[in-house]
Amino acid sequence: MKLTSYPIGIFDSGVGGTSIWKEIKALLPHENTIYLSDSKNAPYGEKSEQKIIDLSIKNSEFLLQQNCKLIIVACNTATTNAIKVLREKYNNPFIGIEPAIKPAALKTKTNNIGILATKGTLNSELFEKTASTIAEEITTRETVGKGLVELIENGKIDSSEMKKLLSSYIKPMLEDQVDCLVLGCTHYPYLIPQIREIVGEKVQIIDSGEAVAKQTKAILEKHQLLNIDTKKGTHQFYINKNKNVLEMLISKNNESIKIDEKDF
Ligand code: DGL
Repeated sequence: MKLTSYPIGIFDSGVGGTSIWKEIKALLPHENTIYLSDSKNAPYGEKSEQKIIDLSIKNSEFLLQQNCKLIIVACNTATTNAIKVLREKYNNPFIGIEPAIKPAALKTKTNNIGILATKGTLNSELFEKTASTIAEEITTRETVGKGLVELIENGKIDSSEMKKLLSSYIKPMLEDQVDCLVLGCTHYPYLIPQIREIVGEKVQIIDSGEAVAKQTKAILEKHQLLNIDTKKGTHQFYINKNKNVLEMLISKNNESIKIDEKDF
């Protein structure tokens, strides 16, 4: 098998990273992928930095054993806490995802940006470093989306509990004149319809999914790893809890997609 047809590995603490996988599949339809959903250990956002690093190493080892040519850390929490260690430890290229504060800083008219992310992301050094690079006149309103990942992992996306929690996190931001809301967790794009209902049309909702797909393409090109096959890619998913939620989020009636529930 040619190195270029080896799969792209993607991992997240759960099903949220499928929002990134969808962007990858749309931009790079010929790439094969292996997605690892560590739902058993979600949420990562409440864990210590060392625990997040250990879990990220475990996930990366699993994907590297399956010959993944590149790994996407489709989790803001794992990226901001562990990507430096992963890049030091392994030779394969790693792509990460961080809250899109810089694009939001360019778009805001009120100079107030809202950031909804996990505690692990907001407390990380990498997040602090990125946040310190935006213009001084811009105020960031950071809020921990506690409980949101758990509700999504349990399939309660459109529940009244979800709407109540989201309102309690977002309404105070609106009172602070926030006009750009950064979704700093890969689970949150699945909440865009519910968030839109709360913020109305005037607030821009910004996530990093498309940018990650573009960056992945650029890095594959740079390393001459783009899959040159003309047939559509195949997609293998591994999940260690609640396979049905994953099936709900991705189309299972597609023969190029295989989902296995197993312990890892
Ligand atoms: N999807 C993960 C992220 O982007 C969720 C983290 C968690 O499990 O708390 O941060």
